Amino acid sequence: MALLPIITAPDPRLKLAAEPVKAVDAVVRRLMDDLLETMYDAPGIGLAAPQVGVQRRVLVVDIAREGEKPQPLKIANPEILWRSEELATYSEGCLSLPEHYADVSRPARIRLRYLDYQNEIREVEMEGLLATCVQHEMDHLDGVLFVDHLSPLKRNIILRKLAKLKRQKTAETVGA
Ligand code: NI
Repeated sequence: MALLPIITAPDPRLKLAAEPVKAVDAVVRRLMDDLLETMYDAPGIGLAAPQVGVQRRVLVVDIAREGEKPQPLKIANPEILWRSEELATYSEGCLSLPEHYADVSRPARIRLRYLDYQNEIREVEMEGLLATCVQHEMDHLDGVLFVDHLSPLKRNIILRKLAKLKRQKTAETVGA
C-alpha cells in the first residue's frame, strides 16, 4: 500500500467527471487500499479517487470515531437508487479544502447500489453521517465540491483563501 498525494482546491482536476470501473480487479483493489491508507493518514472519514488524481468512480469511507473499531467501506460505481425527501444538515469539511467547514443539507437517508472489494453488487440503506459522507464523496466523482452547495459568496470566500494559501506555499518552495 502507498500514501497518495491529495489534490487541494482550486484545481481543474477536481472538476472532472470520473469514469466507471469495468470491474473491481487487482488494480482497483490496490487503488481502494491506497485511498483508505491515505484517508486514515490525513486523517479523514472519506476520500474519492479524483482527489488523488485518478478519474475513476471509486471511493472509501470510514465514519468510526477514534478508539472505535474501524468500519471501512470500499465502494466502486456507486448509484443512489432512492433518497429520502427529509434532509439532514452536517458541518462538512473536505481533505481537498483543508481547514474549511460549512453546513450542507442533503437527503437524510439513501439506498445505495455499488460494487464492493470482492466485485459483488451490494445494496444497502444508509443514514446519518454515513449517508452524508457517501453523498459528499459521490459528488467528487462528478467534479462537485461541498462548497458548490453553498451560496456563490460563501464559496468564493473559501476558494479565494485556498488559492492564496497555494500561492504562498509555491512562493515558499521557490524561495527555499
Ligand atoms: Ni471531500
